[in-house]
Amino acid sequence: MFSSSVLTVSHHPQVRRVVTTNSASRRLVGRFIAGDDLDAALGPIRALVQRGLLVTVDHLGDGDRMALDHATAICAAATRVGTTVTLDMEDHTNVDSTLGILAALRREHPWVGAVLQSGLRRTEADAADLAGAGSRVRLVKGAYAEPASVAYTAKADVDEAYLRCLRILMAGQGYPMVATHDLRMVEAARALTVEYGRHADDHEYQMLYGIRTAEQDRIAASGERMRVYLPYGADWYGYFTRRLAERPANLAFFLRSLISR
Ligand code: FDA
Repeated sequence: MFSSSVLTVSHHPQVRRVVTTNSASRRLVGRFIAGDDLDAALGPIRALVQRGLLVTVDHLGDGDRMALDHATAICAAATRVGTTVTLDMEDHTNVDSTLGILAALRREHPWVGAVLQSGLRRTEADAADLAGAGSRVRLVKGAYAEPASVAYTAKADVDEAYLRCLRILMAGQGYPMVATHDLRMVEAARALTVEYGRHADDHEYQMLYGIRTAEQDRIAASGERMRVYLPYGADWYGYFTRRLAERPANLAFFLRSLISR
């Protein structure tokens, strides 16, 4: 009870500001934290070693700061080769920090895109915020199991919200990226492009590598922009299991292939 109250209070921005800037509190912090950077920590490390103690060094990185630094470097590289970057979206606990990073990146690189998930109740408001000129938004349904307090739990509600968000984005000045394998959504997007007088170069369709490949070819052949999202990398497990979870048939296919090996 006590510790959770302290944690709740500590998240308050004013409390954070006082603790990090006030000289008395900084002295208290200094008792428990060896410094803000490695140079500052070297003195305390040496002192402990001289006392015959072993030392484990824990780098307390600011996750958002680190993400912003890395994303800034990636955006600079993208600018050099003439391409764009879109920030993936994880579960609802990360939406505010991801949109914060997006806003920071867009100050220098206005073309940086975001993913919005129609499954979240907040997303219509986020879509309206991000429907301005130059803004690139990839609209998805959302791949995470979210609580009813923040998300629609019925698939029909997620779909209806997708259509509402799609309209907001298509009516706006930005560059909507229609990321779905649901042909009803693709058809709705096409109708909205006509309704709002859009052209083939001011929006695009996106699908995942390996899913609905014939449809991908068909959309590209119709003269629309069709982008395939191609994942790679050693840390593939979470992505893979989300794709299995999306479709019982995939899970059944996977289990069958294990059994028949
Ligand atoms: P829906 O789930 O209703 O599926 C419609 C139809 O598509 C299904 O009936 C089936 O035929 C086919 N289909 C869908 N998924 C399939 C699968 N796994 N295997 C085979 N067929 C399938 N999510 C997120 O939370 N954060 C993110 O950053 C992204 N990024 C992202 C980028 C891109 C380019 C895409 C296309 C999707 C994402 N997603 C995502 C995933 C997204 O949120 C969603 O989980 C999936 O796209 C599935 O939803 P659909 O819109 O396809 O509809």
